[in-house]
Amino acid sequence: MLGHAFQSMLYNTRDAWGSVSRNVHWLMVLLFAGQITLGKYAHGLNLSPQKLDLLVWHKSIGITLLLLASFRLIWRIAGTRPETLPGTPDWERKAAALSHTLFYLLMLAIPVTGWLMNSAKNIPFKLFLLVPWPDLVSPSEPWGKVFEEWHESLVAAFIVLILLHVAAALRHHFIKRDQVLNRMLGRGPSQ
Ligand code: HEM
Ligand code: HEM
Repeated sequence: MLGHAFQSMLYNTRDAWGSVSRNVHWLMVLLFAGQITLGKYAHGLNLSPQKLDLLVWHKSIGITLLLLASFRLIWRIAGTRPETLPGTPDWERKAAALSHTLFYLLMLAIPVTGWLMNSAKNIPFKLFLLVPWPDLVSPSEPWGKVFEEWHESLVAAFIVLILLHVAAALRHHFIKRDQVLNRMLGRGPSQ
C-alpha cells in the first residue's frame, strides 16, 4: 500500500498537479520538441539510407508519444484536476478548456495519421528496431499521400497551438504574476 503522503504527491488534487501529471507534461514537451525537429529534418532529406534510419526513430518516438498521450488522457479523465484559480475570467476558463481539448485531439491524431501514412505506403516498420508493428490500412499510394498531407497540416496546427499555449503560460507568470506556471513546475505555496 502507498502511504497517504506519497499518494498525494502522485495524484492531482483540487489545488495542485501531482508528480505524474507534471512529469508526463514536461517529458512530452521534450519528446515533442525532438520529434518535430527530427520530422522536419528527415522530411528535407532526399531518399537515402540515412533518411530511412532517421525515420525509424521518428516513427518509434511517435508511437511512444501516442502511448504516453493515451495514458495521460486516461489519467486526466480518471482523476481529479486542480481548480482554475479564483477570479479567472470566464473567457480564460473557456480558452484553456478548448486549447487543452485540442491538444489531446492533436496528440492522438498526429501519431495516428503518421501510422496510417506508414501503413498505406507499405513501409515495414519495427518499433525501436525490435517490435514488428501492425498496419492499420492496406497499401494505397493515393491514400499514403492523403495521410501525409493530414500529418503535416495537423503538425502545423499543433505548432500554432503550442505557441499560443506558451504565450498564455508566460502571460500568467510574468504579467498576471499568478501560480499557473509554478503549479505545473511543482513549485509554489500549495506544494
Ligand atoms: C507524435 C507525434 C509526431 C509528430 C509531432 C510528428 C511530426 C512530423 C513532422 C514535423 C514531419 C515533417 C513534415 C512537415 O514538414 O511538417 C513528419 C513527417 C513524417 N512522419 Fe511524423 N510525427 C509524429 C508521429 C509519427 C508517427 C507515429 C509516424 C509513423 C509511424 C510518423 C511518420 C512520419 C513520416 C513517414 C513522415 C514523412 C517523412 C518524409 O517522407 O519526408 N510520424 N512528422
Ligand atoms: C509540446 C508542447 C506542449 C503540450 C502538448 C502541452 C500540453 C498541455 C496540456 C494538454 C495541458 C493541460 C493539463 C494536462 O492535461 O496535462 C497543459 C498544461 C499546462 N502547460 Fe503545457 N504543453 C506544452 C508545452 C508547454 C510549455 C513549453 C509550457 C511553459 C512555458 C507549458 C505550460 C503549461 C502550464 C503552466 C499548464 C497548466 C495550465 C493549468 O493549470 O490550467 N506547456 N499543457
